[in-house]
Amino acid sequence: MLPCCAVRVCHVLMLVLCLSAAEDFDWTKNNHDSFYYGTFPTGFSWGAGSSAYQTEGAWDKDGKGLSIWDVFSHKKGKIQQNDTGDSSCEGYYKFKDDTSLMKELKLNHYRFSISWPRIIPTGVKSDHINEKGIQYYNELIDHLLENKITPIVTLYHWDLPQVLQEKYGGWQNISMINHFNEFANLCFERFGNRVKYWITFNNPWSVAVEGYETGEHAPGLRLRGTGAYKAAHHIIKAHAKVWHTYDTLWRGKQQGLVGISLSGDWGEPVDITNQKDIEAAERYVQFYLGWFATPVFHGDYPQVMKDFVGRKSVHQGLGTSRLPMFSPQEKSYMKGTCDFLGIGHFTTRYITHKSYPSGRSGTSYFTDRDLAELVDPRWPDPGSEWLYSVPWGFRRLLNFVKTQYGNPMIYVTENGVSEKMSCTELCDEWRIQYYKDYINEMLKAIRDGVNVKGYTAWSLLDKFEWDEGYSERFGLYYVDFRNKNKPRYPKASVQFYKRIISFNGFPNQREVENWRRKAVETCSSSNQLLAAEEQRSTAANILRLIHDPLTSHMEMVTEIVVPTVCTLCILLSAIFLMFLLRRN
Ligand code: NOJ
Repeated sequence: MLPCCAVRVCHVLMLVLCLSAAEDFDWTKNNHDSFYYGTFPTGFSWGAGSSAYQTEGAWDKDGKGLSIWDVFSHKKGKIQQNDTGDSSCEGYYKFKDDTSLMKELKLNHYRFSISWPRIIPTGVKSDHINEKGIQYYNELIDHLLENKITPIVTLYHWDLPQVLQEKYGGWQNISMINHFNEFANLCFERFGNRVKYWITFNNPWSVAVEGYETGEHAPGLRLRGTGAYKAAHHIIKAHAKVWHTYDTLWRGKQQGLVGISLSGDWGEPVDITNQKDIEAAERYVQFYLGWFATPVFHGDYPQVMKDFVGRKSVHQGLGTSRLPMFSPQEKSYMKGTCDFLGIGHFTTRYITHKSYPSGRSGTSYFTDRDLAELVDPRWPDPGSEWLYSVPWGFRRLLNFVKTQYGNPMIYVTENGVSEKMSCTELCDEWRIQYYKDYINEMLKAIRDGVNVKGYTAWSLLDKFEWDEGYSERFGLYYVDFRNKNKPRYPKASVQFYKRIISFNGFPNQREVENWRRKAVETCSSSNQLLAAEEQRSTAANILRLIHDPLTSHMEMVTEIVVPTVCTLCILLSAIFLMFLLRRN
């Protein structure tokens, strides 16, 4: 017989083994269960989202300062069709109408962001506070609360004050940390008595990679191999500082929560029996979500990032890694600075290992990862080029978060799908399918034990989709951007999402199928309304062109002559074809 203390030791060892096993995500187990009918936990929060630059418009009204997106979108060739967010959905003026739409959906929360230059025009608090901007957000928050909708407020959804970019180089400069902290502190002071959910940064991955590495987003810098890492470093530190500010100065009286919203595509190994593919897939996720999540939960960058960027930097003959380091004090300051984790998730990739030589030329965040991304051609891809519908990837990502970061409280802060601009189809069955399947995978993840507290459909309205301008529509509500009143029309998905919210889940196959059918029925009347409105505005445009003495010849040609000639050509070809068919 084993002595008692030996049994104890064995127990402890087994416990340690179990615990450490629980920490590991199992890459070899990918179960695609069938649809699960059931409900979400009581109190689960349903919402929809937006962001300031994408919806507010009023870019130069009531004392607002310029943001980097105002400046970037005004440069020719940066945005599809040279679109800008100047007026966008006119959300600044229409927030009461939009609240009615949220009520119609029976939303529990609304996620929006505060435009930093709207309330601090130069970005520096001691320069000037724009009270009119403060008043706008006060009214919005009050109105939401009067309608029993909880505000979830993002402090930074990409619209840095332009002055900070010009003076300091934006997120390349360490001074952003203090300026952002001052701005956040002002928000806590002015709005914190009513706002209880704060998100410091939205999708810092995009800010760093697309703003400072590829230059597709504002401020449009291409500092390959270094810019993104440096921007991210300052953003992570700024997040931690703001969390501490809230924790020491405001939490006691305001009792709110401060989190960060990270975006993460899922990366699935091409071959789950191949260790190299598994490691490559893990690297993909660590370089994406882990880059930001690991510091805020564990106090440092993922080991695999430090190893890969470090080794490549050595090969490139650099004295230090291109990935900056945190000091021991910074590590303990950062660790645990996340009351809840916001997850923005849209799509998945298959990942396989691929080595990139680490020569000096061609260094980039992308080649640092040593992997290749693949997609399955059978995956549906209704809108954005990058967005394939792969619902099971969502459950995998949520389970990964659970195992890696100690099962934190999660709010899904973005999930949804787009369609192309040319499509004025309100009967968005593919979006219904996307929401149905993704929300179902989230329900399965909750049953797996993932601590998801709320879900935010992205987005409430069609809006300015960054470098894609208005060419991609993510909204539950269609916005007619050609009409200066920017009217909103419900897509079929509004009805479907509303049913999920009312039932707090999915009752049974027959009922859910009924929801889909009914939703699609309602949209044909909205479609007619939209079509009638479009005809009316086309007629009004023609009249304007005819009556306006300054109408340019070009406008006349593109707006009237070309469509008329095209229609005539189609008609003539059809008649000709019929004639030929008859003769044969
Ligand atoms: C993430 C961004 O946070 C959001 O602003 C954008 O609309 C969606 N991705 C879709 O591209």
